[in-house]
Amino acid sequence: MAQVSELNLILLGPPGAGKGTQAERLRADFALAHISTGDMLRSQVADGTELGRQAKAYMDRGELVPDDVIVGMIVQRIEQDDAKDGFLLDGFPRNDSQAHALEQALQRQDRHLSAALLIDVPDEELVRRLSGRRVCVKNPAHIYQVELDPPKHEGVCDQDGARLIQRDDDREATIRRRLQVYHEQTAPLIGWYERAGLLRSFDGRRDPAEVHDHIRAALATLRLEEQL
Ligand code: AP5
Repeated sequence: MAQVSELNLILLGPPGAGKGTQAERLRADFALAHISTGDMLRSQVADGTELGRQAKAYMDRGELVPDDVIVGMIVQRIEQDDAKDGFLLDGFPRNDSQAHALEQALQRQDRHLSAALLIDVPDEELVRRLSGRRVCVKNPAHIYQVELDPPKHEGVCDQDGARLIQRDDDREATIRRRLQVYHEQTAPLIGWYERAGLLRSFDGRRDPAEVHDHIRAALATLRLEEQL
């Protein structure tokens, strides 16, 4: 039986909205397992696995990787020990069938979603942000932006001194395709979670610390309500 205070969360929002940036902060605040499908896939690519090889072709085009690859990976991941007291899904679900699969997997485990957190930002701002994103080669959760949130020393991660790199899919044409895929396939989930009474929306144009404060306050309230 799930504990009453378990926080099971989804981060929704377009590419570049700040899902990864916020997830890294919220993970620490609430002791949640941060599960990023993008990071899991990029790690498979870096390890040269068959799954990584298949996924890379889709990722480089800005398309979704097929559901049969993703769904099994996530269903197994949320059952692992570190996710049993709560998880933060970043980048999943991304379409109707992934949302159904998650719902069914949680029901089988006698668990439920606590909230879907939507971080929203207009498309043009996203293109600018992603074109200047840099990520740590050692830990992809360490994320920077050359103009808006630069590292102290150019090209070097503040947290562990490792090199910063640009993601292969952060080229303008690919960014625009990712945004199109988001609007066609992922954005309809906003209505789905709203109808389920789970949606919480946040203005992602504010600076990262402010967005974090707003989400943290909403989650603290939610956790208190879950404990009642
Ligand atoms: P994924 O890695 O999930 O990418 P994404 O959803 O496109 O999101 P991003 O990581 O680009 O952005 P983010 O919202 O995390 O923003 P971030 O915090 O980095 O997916 C990549 C690919 O994998 C997909 O295209 C697909 O092919 C595949 N894939 C993944 N999941 C899948 C699934 N479920 N099904 C099928 N395929 C899947 O911030 C962005 C930048 O903005 C950074 O530089 C940051 O410093 C800056 N920033 C953040 N917040 C702010 C702020 N408030 N103000 C100013 N700048 C900010």
